[in-house]
Amino acid sequence: MEFNAPAGTNLFDQSKIVGKSTPRIDGPLKTTGTAPYAYERHDVVANQAYGYIVGAAIAKGRIVSMDTSAARAAPGVLAVIAAPETKPVGKGMGNNAPLFGGSEVAHYHQAVACVVAETFEQARAAAGLIRTRYQRADGSFDLAGAAPAAPLAKGRDGKPDQSTLGDFATAFAAAPVKIDARYTTPDESHAMMEPHATIAAWEGEKLTLWTSNQMIAWGKGSMGQILGIDPANVRLDSPYIGGGFGGKLFVRADAVLAALAAKAAARPVKIALQRPLMANNTSHRHATIQRIRIGAGRDGRITAIAHENWSGNLNGEDGENGTAQTPSLYAGANRMTANYIATLDLPEGNAMRAPGEAPGHLALEVAIDELAEAVGMDPIALRILNEPKPEAVPGTPDQRFSDRNLVRCLREGAERFGWSKRSAKPGQMREGRWLIGMGVAAGYRGAPTGTSGARIKLEADGRIIVETDMTDIGTGTYTIIAQTAAETMGVPLERVSVVLGDSDFPVSAGSGGQWGAASSTAGTYAACVALRRAIGQKLGFDGDAASFVNGQITAGGRTRPLTDAGALSAEDSIKFGDFKRGYDIGTYAGHFCEVAVDAYTGETRIRRMLAVCDAGRVLNPLSARSQVVGAMVMSAGAALMEELAVDKRFGFFVNHDLAGYEVPVHADIPHQECLFLDTLDPVVSPMKAKGVGELGICGPGAAVANAIYNATGIRVRDYPLTLDKYL
Ligand code: MOS
Repeated sequence: MEFNAPAGTNLFDQSKIVGKSTPRIDGPLKTTGTAPYAYERHDVVANQAYGYIVGAAIAKGRIVSMDTSAARAAPGVLAVIAAPETKPVGKGMGNNAPLFGGSEVAHYHQAVACVVAETFEQARAAAGLIRTRYQRADGSFDLAGAAPAAPLAKGRDGKPDQSTLGDFATAFAAAPVKIDARYTTPDESHAMMEPHATIAAWEGEKLTLWTSNQMIAWGKGSMGQILGIDPANVRLDSPYIGGGFGGKLFVRADAVLAALAAKAAARPVKIALQRPLMANNTSHRHATIQRIRIGAGRDGRITAIAHENWSGNLNGEDGENGTAQTPSLYAGANRMTANYIATLDLPEGNAMRAPGEAPGHLALEVAIDELAEAVGMDPIALRILNEPKPEAVPGTPDQRFSDRNLVRCLREGAERFGWSKRSAKPGQMREGRWLIGMGVAAGYRGAPTGTSGARIKLEADGRIIVETDMTDIGTGTYTIIAQTAAETMGVPLERVSVVLGDSDFPVSAGSGGQWGAASSTAGTYAACVALRRAIGQKLGFDGDAASFVNGQITAGGRTRPLTDAGALSAEDSIKFGDFKRGYDIGTYAGHFCEVAVDAYTGETRIRRMLAVCDAGRVLNPLSARSQVVGAMVMSAGAALMEELAVDKRFGFFVNHDLAGYEVPVHADIPHQECLFLDTLDPVVSPMKAKGVGELGICGPGAAVANAIYNATGIRVRDYPLTLDKYL
């Protein structure tokens, strides 16, 4: 189905199933521990052996020698593969260095060997017997050192990634009020619960990977590229994923080494990355240095805005685009954004939940707070004053906003949160030893969509089965797809089964960039429409004109049960037309936070958080709320505690486990609330729905930072905002 113009009224506008809070249909499997994750799929193939990966002990240089003889002779060992004896594999999508092979070491904990044994313990013990000698080379590990405040570092294609409108320099120089501030955000780890894990089995030329991956079709293509085989011979299966956050967008060493090891051992092999490899072998969110300059009139109206962002990556690959939200959030005629990328020899940087915007808001939304103080305005009033016109996106004036209700988010949030009780002057509210403060931030995250297909089957007993290679990364995809199919086919939710994550199924948009919900439900809808037509044709109805209710098809006074059509199947995908290029399709939020800061120790306690979100039709308020609340926790973590600590001498992340990499827990945020506006975005898809999972991490951390400033009067611009920085 082509979606080529904004959607008019449709069946979801009167929906009974889509838009209703529905517990996740995979919930019981998850909460009883019976959802089989990749490493636990003991029954998919017999005779599984265990692989254990050895990571490089240097960040840069080469392997001089590797002695695997003791490991090969160890009990239970079936095979050892050694990088120096293996030709480097190809790079797949999103891999910034080959995942295995050769003597060159590109980053710390790059896989250099893999031992396969009958048991996990035998594989691990034998791995410890491998003796490797390295020749260490000097590397570049310090972003601040590699990327000074002038645009020396290169952007994409060797050129600064820069956009300009009007004349920033002149307007900034002339502005009566100026903000010029530098913010830093650290490297961050996805730190998902389920590590990257794969079981690989060969059957002749055919390779099957039972794995944990967000983007099945990308993974299938990448495995072909990496191994130099026909992707048609690769199958990925990933029905349950214990968190991805972008870390599982691309195949990693577990999948590649499991495939190579299974070939070497002539046995199916399973590998889970041990936790330290999660930090240094896979990808992470790049650290950023951001400089923001804002020029405004004394009335608070922005006349000039510049946002520059420095980040680094292996081989000068893409960095973290901290400026991503800046063209869309605030009006202002004279503008500049630029990204500069330094080459660093740290582990690969890549996408992590709301790549770009998540750290970008930590800078921009604090700079806006600083401007509000400088002009003596309430920060909400300042944002509303600088709200752009719907017909012209400030940084991309040839685009208009598809549907934007940020002002409503801020106003309704202020009312709900009790914003009027905030003291504009910082450091005024105190309860015993606790300094109390409130902060606000706006949130923006794009709402992309991608081609997404599905196959819908009508069973002889009237049940509906949806098959698509779409994934559920803990987001609720199973449930919203089932709701969409139930509504479109006119059957109760319990009569719908959803099967996901198998590359033998029609290709979907996958899970990433918060495009999954909007795209995969639209694709399910498109395939259901095809099935309605097929049923109509079989039973002598116009499938487009007929209504499908209560397991029956009705038109022209005639009604037949769907079961009269017998078993039928139809397949289609949603494709999005070029008309979307004229629109900035975004999601918006007003984020609020109240903190208490210990006046003596600097310890921060979040007391409550609120998000008011504008994301079009909310397909399932229960799972959407869960997405946003989880994202708020992650954003609070980015503000207060998350940081991969770089060893700048040896070039690795030191705190490579969940004891040293701190993330918030429930007790850290006693009260969280999330509300959705009742908006519809007719441009995004026939469902009029947008994603929320990444919107939720754009802004809350800045609201935390602004609340701490309001409590203490101390502005710390280097994240995480740990207590030592307030003493
Ligand atoms: Mo997201 S970082 O595209 O999973």
